[in-house]
Amino acid sequence: MVTTTRKTDIALSGEIIVAPDKSISHRSIIFASLANGKSKIYNLLEGEDALKTMNAMRLMGVEFTKKENFYEVNGVGIVGLMEPSDILDMGNSGTSTRLLAGLVCPYNFTSFFTGDASLRKRPMGRVFEPIQKFGAQIISRKNNLSPFAIIGNQDAMPIEYKMKMASAQVKSCILLASLAIKGTTTIIEPERCRDHTEIMMKNLGLKIIQENFNNGTKISYNGLQEFGGHDFEIPNDISSSAFFMVGALLVKNSKILLKNIGINPLRTGLIQTLQEMGGKILLKNMREIGGEKVADIEVEASDLKAINVPASRSASMIDEYPILAVACAFANGTSKLNGLAELKVKESNRLTMIADNLQNCGVEVQIGDDFLEIKGGFAMPKKEVEIKTAMDHRIAMSFLIMGLRLENGVKIDDDKMIKTSFPNFEKIIAQFI
Ligand code: S3P
Repeated sequence: MVTTTRKTDIALSGEIIVAPDKSISHRSIIFASLANGKSKIYNLLEGEDALKTMNAMRLMGVEFTKKENFYEVNGVGIVGLMEPSDILDMGNSGTSTRLLAGLVCPYNFTSFFTGDASLRKRPMGRVFEPIQKFGAQIISRKNNLSPFAIIGNQDAMPIEYKMKMASAQVKSCILLASLAIKGTTTIIEPERCRDHTEIMMKNLGLKIIQENFNNGTKISYNGLQEFGGHDFEIPNDISSSAFFMVGALLVKNSKILLKNIGINPLRTGLIQTLQEMGGKILLKNMREIGGEKVADIEVEASDLKAINVPASRSASMIDEYPILAVACAFANGTSKLNGLAELKVKESNRLTMIADNLQNCGVEVQIGDDFLEIKGGFAMPKKEVEIKTAMDHRIAMSFLIMGLRLENGVKIDDDKMIKTSFPNFEKIIAQFI
């Protein structure tokens, strides 16, 4: 199916409820599965990525029941998972794959993983290395690609592991493995990246130690700590809110309130960047849910100026570069976004997908090995621009937002992936076209 958007001058207004947080949804499903007893999960993302994690946990013996406004989960305890009765098909979800690869590694069974054509291109070596250090075996396609199998090791010993990149997925993979391993596992992250796993563990009463270590953190966890059933409540996703944040900044006379958004300080790089560009963004009603900081975010149409975003900020806005690039196309001056090498191994090669699609819209873009330079202001395309999405939900949504400012609009080649993270996106944007 294809979706189009075009300039209508309908201002974005009112309250917008974006999708629940994807990262926290995966983790809530996993930790609820490992509790001793029943848990409830409120505001779970019912996007395909989170449902893939849930399905995998079901295949390992965990029961999930959908009730009126929550999921009830019958946890099996930290060492209670069963051999998955089928291949774990993780669809488009790198997070499901990398987190669950860690989870199954200290078990006395073999797990088979696969995914869709996008996921089967994504590097898994970054999690295979620590998993093999734990003594589990891996059989994979060439170049550490999925499909792969993990032959678990019930006698896994704790490890000390220095991560090579700032990746919350790698960090969480190791932490999830450490839950069922006797002794203290230590992880050193080179730079701080999202800490939802650590926050959730603390909130469940688990003793996890975090110490500053150069620019990053040293994390230690002594395995085999048990925990009981818990009420998980998930805020809405800052990465999903980003599309409407930029939409409201760009479409004149807009003013919106994005409700109940998780503002974990390790994920707010986009807000800081857009504010530095002159974006009118206010955080209101700040509070905490499940140890996570939450706010309502008011955004008003603004004139934006170009920006030079340092590489040191990239971990805090890693999923937001496609929509930031759209904002830069309308900013006054030339922006430079640095430290983008990781974008090449996301759901698509986002570095080239951003550049190609912006260029198709007439925007001047320079692409480097790990940077983009985007010149704000361009001649209005004379016809509808066809956007290639390469199975990437965030490319699809970012360019549908761009279409709100193009007289003849955009047409994306495929919208199926949007439901991996934001099933209601097209319904919400339809109010403004
Ligand atoms: C995620 C971490 C990030 C992010 C992904 C979700 C997570 O990936 O891009 O969408 O939930 O841990 P990396 O940790 O690989 O950068």
